[in-house]
Amino acid sequence: MTGGSRSGKSGHALKLSEKYNKKLFLATAEPLDDEMQERIKRHQAERGKDWTTLEEPLDITGVMKKEFNNYEVLVLDCITLWLSNLIMSGADREAILTKLHQFIGECKQSNAHIIVITNELGSGIIPMDASVRSFRDVAGEANQILASEFDEVINMVSGIPVVIKSASSTSEDKLKPTDSEHEFSPQKKQGLYEAIYKRRDIRHFNSKKVNPEALGRVLDAAHHAGSVGYMQPWNFMVIDDPQIKNKVAQNFKKANEEAALKFSDERQELYNSLKLEGIEDAAINICVTSDRNRFGPNVLGRNTAIDTDLFSTCCAVQNLWLAARAEGLAVGWVSILSYDQLKEDLDIPDHVQPVAYLCVGHTEAFYPKPMLETKGWAKRLPVEKLIYYNKWQGTSTDFKVRFSDNIKDD
Ligand SMILES: Cc1cc2nc3c(=O)[nH]c(=O)nc-3n(C[C@H](O)[C@H](O)[C@H](O)COP(=O)(O)O)c2cc1C
Repeated sequence: MTGGSRSGKSGHALKLSEKYNKKLFLATAEPLDDEMQERIKRHQAERGKDWTTLEEPLDITGVMKKEFNNYEVLVLDCITLWLSNLIMSGADREAILTKLHQFIGECKQSNAHIIVITNELGSGIIPMDASVRSFRDVAGEANQILASEFDEVINMVSGIPVVIKSASSTSEDKLKPTDSEHEFSPQKKQGLYEAIYKRRDIRHFNSKKVNPEALGRVLDAAHHAGSVGYMQPWNFMVIDDPQIKNKVAQNFKKANEEAALKFSDERQELYNSLKLEGIEDAAINICVTSDRNRFGPNVLGRNTAIDTDLFSTCCAVQNLWLAARAEGLAVGWVSILSYDQLKEDLDIPDHVQPVAYLCVGHTEAFYPKPMLETKGWAKRLPVEKLIYYNKWQGTSTDFKVRFSDNIKDD
């Protein structure tokens, strides 16, 4: 529920909630002065006795976590004050948006109807003060995120609700027959496929720091990969020391010069024009290793295929890459290295194999297509041609895979 101040947002939210029995009003306002106290009192009186009111200026996700099972409807009034409280407590844009996503994540877990009230701030005169401008900007950004994540968006104009995003399309989706009761909702699927199709190998980084909490989520996602016999053979060596990065960059330079010689004249020229690493530019490097002895010589599933520990580590790298994309973090895999040199430079013991050396940080732009495709090095093969049925190069008999358009870019 968005709109200007005094446009009738709270009143309409209460009206929409009338039909429910257990109602929670979560107020983010702090009664800091007389005017605010007066306003809060008036709103409380308007709501009447069948509402429970909780006041929480900052930790709205915590309240959601505790309370969402106890109510049929929850009205949060309002996002704008919550943002202002966060800013006053010292939170920056990144921290604010992380908290917003946590809140939205919690809303998605809930069976309650959730109405959040916010304000349209950006339509007036551009504020003179820089801090006010950044508040206005983060408020606009937060509104956009909420509007894209919530099923329905109402803009209140002079007390008249104008539905600007209708719930009907999403409820139609909900009614669509699904192949499996375990299938994700369309929005969740969209998020997953978006991470897959918009993941890119990135070699251009800017100097922006990596948020340690975001990296924590990314590495925990990596740690949730499948692994042979549940071996979890990986370690994640997080490297921020410029001296170590420089050693690895030198290692790359030497290996890359040797690799270039393997291509013929024209190809070699193109090869030499490619940027194939961002080791020293990326804020963080991560060496993902595989401990080949973890849990002893007999690991369930690994007796016949000894390299399944390495395959498992690659699964962890892919999880890392996708989660990083969702977090807006760029990842570039550098394999043009002497692994013996890498082991020496990072003090890696003999029984541990470096699997992936990754550059991790922020980029100005995720390439819309693989960089090697844009630069004319290689093209994506048609997936249809890569599918065989029953035998090597076998064609379909009864069952045939079909491909439909989805959100991929290339
Ligand atoms: C195992 C592996 C090793 C790679 N090594 C390098 C590398 O040394 N340098 C590089 O620029 N890209 C490297 N890449 C990235 C690939 O070039 C990239 O994944 C491919 O061109 C497709 O592009 P996309 O990842 O953006 O879809 C590597 C990727 C993988 C999976």
